[in-house]
Amino acid sequence: MDQAEQIRCMKLLMHRLDLGINVDAGGAVVNPVEAYTCAKRAADEWRLMFQSYPQVMGLSGDLPEPGSFITSTELGKPLLLTRDRDGLFQAFLNVCTHRGTVLVQEERGKKFSFNCPFHGWGFSNSGDLVSVPKENHFGPVEKPCYNLVKLTAQEKHGLLWVHPEPGQTFDLDALLGDLGDDLDSWGFGKLSFGALETYQTPMNWKLAIDTFGETYHFPVLHKDTLGQDVYGNVQCYDIFENNHRMLLCSKAIDLFRDLPEQEWDLLAATIPVYYLFPNIQLIPSGRIPGRPKGEMSGATLVRVYPNKDNPHESFSQVSFYTNTEIPQDFREGISDRLAGFSEIIRDEDYKAAATCHAGATSGALQHFTFGRNEPALHHYHNTYNRVLGLDPLQSISN
Ligand code: FES
Ligand SMILES: [Fe+2]
Repeated sequence: MDQAEQIRCMKLLMHRLDLGINVDAGGAVVNPVEAYTCAKRAADEWRLMFQSYPQVMGLSGDLPEPGSFITSTELGKPLLLTRDRDGLFQAFLNVCTHRGTVLVQEERGKKFSFNCPFHGWGFSNSGDLVSVPKENHFGPVEKPCYNLVKLTAQEKHGLLWVHPEPGQTFDLDALLGDLGDDLDSWGFGKLSFGALETYQTPMNWKLAIDTFGETYHFPVLHKDTLGQDVYGNVQCYDIFENNHRMLLCSKAIDLFRDLPEQEWDLLAATIPVYYLFPNIQLIPSGRIPGRPKGEMSGATLVRVYPNKDNPHESFSQVSFYTNTEIPQDFREGISDRLAGFSEIIRDEDYKAAATCHAGATSGALQHFTFGRNEPALHHYHNTYNRVLGLDPLQSISN
């Protein structure tokens, strides 16, 4: 984000703090609880949002060098993501074209070629079938016809996007709108992968997304943790196509009030939270004292997935990345900070959200209500409804 936009956002937050106001969606709306519990709805969203919509599968740092690979099963089919010999990001169905065995079993690593564990057919990390054992016994194989099934893959702004359906393409610039330049400015591509944790949750996946969509709960649910450092119920919120950016207001913003604007630092004054439709939260983390303004210390990527067969279960893949361009002396404690942040998600947000799911199935209420101070929830669920061909959320006040 350029300095002028950073200053605009920080001024807006200070203004809202001074007046005791928040961003205003213009009224409250309701969302039927079936949105979270209906099996038909779950099947539709799986098909339209997770099988035929481009997916963020990681950051560039997940594939740090030629030969790096990761595998994935979150989308209900085995995927293999590689960085080929030329450094190009590629994606395939992780399925041997001989008789369908999952080709690569490891979660991540470095290999330039893969041998199938069943009969040993060999594939390059560009997806080409390169060897067939005992081909004189097997019979001649027209190798180019047996290359791995390729998926459209694009690496941009430091993120790895894949279309989960063979033969389908996507226009990332159109999907992101002006958010592309904003994402680009942080330099997510220079972060190194640290760790991946999986949180299994007894709730619909959209409740996990909802917990990231407002700060109304901060002074209550997070009063002893995040609420100590972040002002609740005040935020800067902007929509970019199906996506959005929320800036949570750190109490440290007050330190900038008396400083010249050229010294203002959004990463010290706020916690930016980027939401990428349908299931991604990307959170850059603030700079280390003594390091240059605007430098991320790392980032947390949260990918939220439904259990495709059960609307009452979901899981989150939470990945941590660190900025290894920061000299080692300054890096002490970055991992602990990132882990601490994710523990709040797991132990506070997701625990509360799981009880919301129990509430949704209890018969106690027909709707969940999203206040005028929770615009991200309005936008997310309205986008979701539009993709599913449903009506917008119903308004209950003006
Ligand atoms: S199934 Fe892969 S080599 Fe036979
Ligand atoms: Fe929260």
